[in-house]
Amino acid sequence: MNINHNFQNVADSYLFSTIAKKVAEYQQENPKADIIRLGIGDVTMPLVPAVIEALHGAVDEMGKKETFHGYGPEQGYGFLKEALKGYYAQRGIELDGDEIFVSDGAKSDVGNILNLFSQDNTVLVPDPVYPVYVDTNIMDGRKILYMNANADNGFLPLPDPAVKADLIYLCSPNNPTGAVYSHAQLKQWVDYANENHAVILFDAAYEAFVGDKSLPRSIFEIDGARTCAIEFCSLSKTAGFTGTRCGYTVVPFDLESDGVKLNKMWLRRQTTKFNGVPYIVQKGAAAVFSDEGQKQIHQVIGYYKQNAKVIADALKELGVWFTGGEHSPYIWLQCPNGMASWDFFDLLLKEGNVVGTPGAGFGKNGEGFFRLTAFNDLENTRKAVERIKKVLSSL
Ligand code: MLT
Repeated sequence: MNINHNFQNVADSYLFSTIAKKVAEYQQENPKADIIRLGIGDVTMPLVPAVIEALHGAVDEMGKKETFHGYGPEQGYGFLKEALKGYYAQRGIELDGDEIFVSDGAKSDVGNILNLFSQDNTVLVPDPVYPVYVDTNIMDGRKILYMNANADNGFLPLPDPAVKADLIYLCSPNNPTGAVYSHAQLKQWVDYANENHAVILFDAAYEAFVGDKSLPRSIFEIDGARTCAIEFCSLSKTAGFTGTRCGYTVVPFDLESDGVKLNKMWLRRQTTKFNGVPYIVQKGAAAVFSDEGQKQIHQVIGYYKQNAKVIADALKELGVWFTGGEHSPYIWLQCPNGMASWDFFDLLLKEGNVVGTPGAGFGKNGEGFFRLTAFNDLENTRKAVERIKKVLSSL
């Protein structure tokens, strides 16, 4: 038996597992420490009433022979795909229901989609970057090229015609920086991908946080994207489904290579390796897209954005450079006094009992930066901000 030796090239532990372990160790050594978590992007507000009502209804259905559901369609129930079609149509994007695949979240699909691509492909990722894009490709042994995202380009790198890649990862609003691409910038990426027969793997997990109507929330708002892009989205941050698990992936019929449709390949992959999202969860997910559900989830998103403003206002007051937090739950700040990001992580944990995410965990350009999330509650966010102020003013 031979193992996949590519695993020897990935870091020993996934970024957020490393952080969770460090925090758990600190908590064990300091059982009285009241730790506030602004690290992993996990939500704290409960599911909205429209979702809860739908979940209850679905549970009841599962308890009666006439309405019980066993295996469902691997690619998702029609009722949820119709709701998603409607959600896209509101933004002028016409999708066929069979272009939408319901999943258990964007993270799994972002990794699983690689089944469709040869290991010979070259991958282009921004740096800093959500570590899943990098780690999953290292596990497969693909060559990875990095493009610099930094303060000079607003953490929004654009295509370099001299660089040739087959798979391009874009995330907008961006994790970890919170930066958002404009239509014109995404158009440059779509043109580059079509010219180079490349595929854009577009992570739209944070689209619901975009408040400015002039900014794109889907790659399919861009002309030409149907022949070069796959979009991943998730209800985790949109509707508090981090623990409930539901997302969706859009693979357009027009996307093909060597005369083979990627939609057909993905359907084949999903029907073989995935048994679908539970009926109960899909019922809850569909309720997110009802009028009432949309009103309710946007109240929660507004609440998180208020937390982001609390953090942003404090950083402004302290004169700390930062970006994000406006159309995103993430605030990306510069560590004080040129401090390395893991050092700042340790300092904040020990002196302030506040957890954030070290920028270096997202790539070399993340060194010297730090990410805070707005997903805790307002009271904890205010408390954390006071503690951060105290730590910074003691330096
Ligand atoms: C993050 O903190 O970057 C996210 O929670 C990770 C994820 O969604 O998997």
